[in-house]
Amino acid sequence: MRMSAKEKGSRRGRRISPNRKPAAIKEAQPRSTPAHERVPELELIYDTAPVGLAFLTPDCRYVQINQRLTEICGISVAKHIGRSVRETVPQVADQVEKIVQAVIHSGEPIMGVEVHGQRADKLNSERVWTTNWHPWRGPDGSIVGVNVVAEEITERKRAEAELAASEGALRESEARFRELADNISQFAWTADRSGWIYWYNKRWHDYTGTTLEEMQGWGWQNVHHPEHVDRVVERIKQSFETGTPWEDTFPLRGRDGNYRWFLSRALPIRNDTGEVIRWFGTNTDVTEQIEAENALRELNDNLEERVQSETRERLQIWNVSQDLLVVADMAGKYLSVNPAWSVTLGWSESDLLGKSSEWLLHPDDRERTRAEIGLLAMGRKTTRFESRFRHKDGSYRWLSWKSVPDQGRIYAVGRDVTELKDAEDKLRETQRELARVAGRATVAAMSAAIAHEIKQPLGAIVTNAAAGLRWLDRSEPNLAEARDALRRIVTDGGRTSDVIQSIRGMFAKSEQVARLLDLNEVIRESIAIASTELEAAKIAVQLELTEQLSLISAHKGQLQQVMLNLITNAADAMRSVEDRARLLRVKSEASGSNAITISVQDNGTGIDIKDIDRIFDAFFTTKSNGMGMGLAICRSIIEAHGGTLSASPGAYQGSIFHIVLPAAPAASVQSRG
Ligand SMILES: Nc1ncnc2c1ncn2[C@@H]1O[C@H](COP(=O)(O)OP(=O)(O)OP(=O)(O)O)[C@@H](O)[C@H]1O
Ligand SMILES: [Mg+2]
Repeated sequence: MRMSAKEKGSRRGRRISPNRKPAAIKEAQPRSTPAHERVPELELIYDTAPVGLAFLTPDCRYVQINQRLTEICGISVAKHIGRSVRETVPQVADQVEKIVQAVIHSGEPIMGVEVHGQRADKLNSERVWTTNWHPWRGPDGSIVGVNVVAEEITERKRAEAELAASEGALRESEARFRELADNISQFAWTADRSGWIYWYNKRWHDYTGTTLEEMQGWGWQNVHHPEHVDRVVERIKQSFETGTPWEDTFPLRGRDGNYRWFLSRALPIRNDTGEVIRWFGTNTDVTEQIEAENALRELNDNLEERVQSETRERLQIWNVSQDLLVVADMAGKYLSVNPAWSVTLGWSESDLLGKSSEWLLHPDDRERTRAEIGLLAMGRKTTRFESRFRHKDGSYRWLSWKSVPDQGRIYAVGRDVTELKDAEDKLRETQRELARVAGRATVAAMSAAIAHEIKQPLGAIVTNAAAGLRWLDRSEPNLAEARDALRRIVTDGGRTSDVIQSIRGMFAKSEQVARLLDLNEVIRESIAIASTELEAAKIAVQLELTEQLSLISAHKGQLQQVMLNLITNAADAMRSVEDRARLLRVKSEASGSNAITISVQDNGTGIDIKDIDRIFDAFFTTKSNGMGMGLAICRSIIEAHGGTLSASPGAYQGSIFHIVLPAAPAASVQSRG
């Protein structure tokens, strides 16, 4: 803002003659010669100085004011001169008067009073000045007024405000960073350019259970593993010194005393000129990864070890196997053989490799072997194949083979079965011998059975023959009786022949014709045959036969034999009984809908309990003249008819024999008529 010469002149005139001067000032200006008139250069400086200047009387009237200072209130220089502050800028009058009084009173300057723009239109309300108030002394040293110097500081203020704002923003962003850093899953820290760590995030402290005081600087070494700390320190120092990024993996001790593994990194933060100003570091928990890696490594190590040991074991099997192991190509050419070959056949490995088995085979086995290899080449495996191989000593060994084709190779296992073959031959011979012996045994058993079964009819024949002779030997021979005896002999002879037939049938397993029979009939006939014997032994017979029983399909002669054997045994058991009437009870009844039971009960001596399981064995007898064949024959006959024969003790004494026979099917019964 430039001022005109005219304005300057008018201001000058007013400044030198203030209307109302205070008494003290009057005294202070005895020469009444204004300085500016004498020194116009000073006046010029006063007006053009970059600071606002004014001179106030003790009663706060403007003696002088320069253009600069009027910028504060927006009132011209002319309107100031000779007027009081209260008149010109009443809004600051109180403050100004107080300051002026204080300066005059103390004789000391008051510095740095801030003043805002005072224009009525408020256009300069944003501008700020700092004002200094100095006492102005007259030649006698008394204070004649106050000199005001105002320097505009608007720009400085703005800069200060901006700085404060940016500092606030910085603080806020720092707070945000802390919040973020405290909440990330990693540990974070910052160090100055030398590597002195001055901050850790909350997670670091939570995990390690330490305070910043313990950790700051190089205190972090306390939570490192003793085996790793030296290496870590050395490497991180190197990074700090050279300004290169740092990375390392190591264990850190937690507050619980356990270590976990951390992958750790630090980056240098540089300023605009590329200088490192600080470091930012993180530690990431990689325990799980490391453990997984270790487990994998261990597994791999183990695997290698296992493969080695398995290979060793397999080689061992190859070497110690007694069986002949061979790997051959698809043409049957040997690629490798195990040591069992030399042991079994006497040939060395080099004798065998590179050739097929052709030259070793028994001439009779060559054709079969070629065919078998052909099948293998087509992918079929051999489960059992026997061939003879020539031993180095010229003999032949029988080998039994199992082979599989796989990926262009034949894998075969051969077992020396020469001894086994010999043993088999021997066994076959033994079996033939056994069959011959068995044949002889069958003959013996059959003779025993025949002897046993014809004893009874033979006895009857002898008895009848003797009776016949007696009738004829009388002085008057009774021919009728003799004829009867002879008839009975004929009947018994016929029966003997039947018995022999049926026994031969049993042993030869020939098909004898079965007939439909009424069991009650068989019982009655058997009792009739045995009647002479029963009468002689004084045995009463009680028949309890159920009529209308189902028919059965059987050989009548054989069932009669069974009945006669059981009756004979019962009679034998009762012969020694003297204290009671000897009684034979024979019962027949239906057993269910399709079986019939016959029971033969005596009140004889009974069966010793220890013998109950053995009485049906052939040749088991407790009798001095017994053969022990009776019950064995009975059981085999009944079982041949699909039935069962068993024994049990009687209710009071004696024993009961039970025959159960299946009823003939209804269809065959109808066809009988
Ligand atoms: N009704 C019975 N009471 C008591 N014991 C019996 C009876 N039936 C058989 N036994 C016993 O069973 C044994 C075997 O009988 P089995 O008929 O098989 O032969 P055995 O009668 O001794 O001689 P045999 O060959 O002459 O018949 C007899 O020795 C006897 O001890
Ligand atoms: Mg008997």
